[in-house]
Amino acid sequence: ILPAALTKQLLVWYDSGHRELPWRENPSPYYVWVSEIMLQQTRVEAVKPYFSRFMKVLPNIAALAAAEEEVLLKLWEGLGYYRRVFQMQRAAVIIMERYGGRMPQSYAELLCLPGIGEYTAGAIASIAFHQPVPAVDGNVLRVLARVTGEEREIQLEQVKKDFFFALKKIYPQKRCGDFTQSLMELGAVVCLPNGMPKCGDCPIADWCLAFQQNRTDELPIKKEK
Ligand code: ADE
Repeated sequence: ILPAALTKQLLVWYDSGHRELPWRENPSPYYVWVSEIMLQQTRVEAVKPYFSRFMKVLPNIAALAAAEEEVLLKLWEGLGYYRRVFQMQRAAVIIMERYGGRMPQSYAELLCLPGIGEYTAGAIASIAFHQPVPAVDGNVLRVLARVTGEEREIQLEQVKKDFFFALKKIYPQKRCGDFTQSLMELGAVVCLPNGMPKCGDCPIADWCLAFQQNRTDELPIKKEK
């Protein structure tokens, strides 16, 4: 249900300029992993200094696995949701023991690690390992709900599943990571929430049902909390 033309359009747009972020310089599995975990509850601008400091103190999976609890607490102080960093350490220990210190590459193996859910596994598989696996977060849900004119509430698990499979069908053969990031980027800088989308800047407005029908302020539909 997603037009294949989106792939090319988004990659061309991504090439024409995107934010330079510390974890994009070197999309190693470890960088992608740590940045995506930090970004799950915290805004990009706030994450930047935390990410740089984290990588100075714990530059690789072995260092994370061996870190003292108080070092982890200090590095995470201010980010909140400390469970995230302790789960990452548990996963790092497993990676040391079972995988010789190298991040497993398959989506299925990634999903088995503590703290790595479908979104994070997709981000690591596509951005670090160049596999055609989607990563559907809140931004991507909003973009796709508008493009497809999705009438269901986007919190429904089935919507996320449907988008995952629809996206999988249009992944490029090369540059899978850039395609994942182009969707996140579009949601972060163009396809904004709360009636503020910048449709005039959007590379896929021609394919967007919400734009064509003047419904960007109605979509996505969200369940009242
Ligand atoms: N938000 C979540 N993941 C991101 C990423 N890789 N780049 C920018 N923003 C993000």
